[in-house]
Amino acid sequence: GAEVVINGSSSPAVVDRSNESIKHDIQPASSKWRHNQTLSLRIRKQILKFLDAEKDISVLKGTLKPGDIIHYIFDRDSTMNVSQNLYELLPRTSPLKNKHFGTCAIVGNSGVLLNSGCGKEIDAHSFVIRCNLAPVQEYARDVGLKTDLVTMNPSVIQRAFEDLVNATWREKLLQRLHSLNGSILWIPAFMARGGKERVEWVNELILKHHVNVRTAYPSLRLLHAVRGYWLTNKVHIKRPTTGLLMYTLATRFCNQIYLYGFWPFPLDQNQNPVKYHYYDSLKYGYTSQASPHTMPLEFKALKSLHEQGALKLTVGQCD
Ligand code: CTP
Repeated sequence: GAEVVINGSSSPAVVDRSNESIKHDIQPASSKWRHNQTLSLRIRKQILKFLDAEKDISVLKGTLKPGDIIHYIFDRDSTMNVSQNLYELLPRTSPLKNKHFGTCAIVGNSGVLLNSGCGKEIDAHSFVIRCNLAPVQEYARDVGLKTDLVTMNPSVIQRAFEDLVNATWREKLLQRLHSLNGSILWIPAFMARGGKERVEWVNELILKHHVNVRTAYPSLRLLHAVRGYWLTNKVHIKRPTTGLLMYTLATRFCNQIYLYGFWPFPLDQNQNPVKYHYYDSLKYGYTSQASPHTMPLEFKALKSLHEQGALKLTVGQCD
């Protein structure tokens, strides 16, 4: 079949730092956007050559046992042991087994969501994916409440929950976990060293307090497979962000995909300042050489997919 054109230029994609100040016109406008079913199906098929979201969303119980040694994906020299708790929390079957949804929302964490009024629209989707345990309650008007899957990088425990230094922070995290109420909690436990204790604390908390979440721990091959797919389409990402991972996975089980809160730029379309996150004071860090992400490059690819009708980006207000 024909190639999916994600990066239209014939020259290899480069990280264009200058585009941070350019006005990013999202066309077609919201009311004119039409879903391209043919293209969506073609993308699903192509991604399936690299990964299968149903399988790669989580390692299953049958494939590991306590004591097994795992090499971190990004730090091959560092290892971790599969703990008894981690083993307990591995799902027996894929949380996405035979799942299909009409429309899905993927909610990124950009401050562009503030004052968007998108909460109702987001909650109207059949499946809602959120990132890094971002708070919803206080921002419901703009981001909605419905959560079917939420990711949690181990670093979130440090950044948003003070590494659980005291009972107050532990209680805060526990409340947040309880509020997930049966949804999927997706923890990349095998990606990078340094998160070991944090993952263990969370696992322990879930088991000890019988928190009602369905835990999932992405497969060891997911990262490279996702990267491989995008590289094949000339999107030269270093390390895919959580948001891009979620889009790539969602193509498998979502008919139409709507993205909110994807805007890795300090100014909005009207040149007004935009917070990096809608809920905290973290600053733009992706420009630093050290950052493994190339968010503006990812954004360019997503924008191109929006133009072709494969997904819909919302970067302004909802009607
Ligand atoms: N995002 C975005 N623009 C922003 C902030 C976030 O497009 N200003 C998207 C990215 O795809 C990101 C996702 O929203 O992966 C979730 O945001 P965040 O929790 O900030 O993820 P990061 O911590 O930045 O990155 P990661 O978890 O992927 O390492």
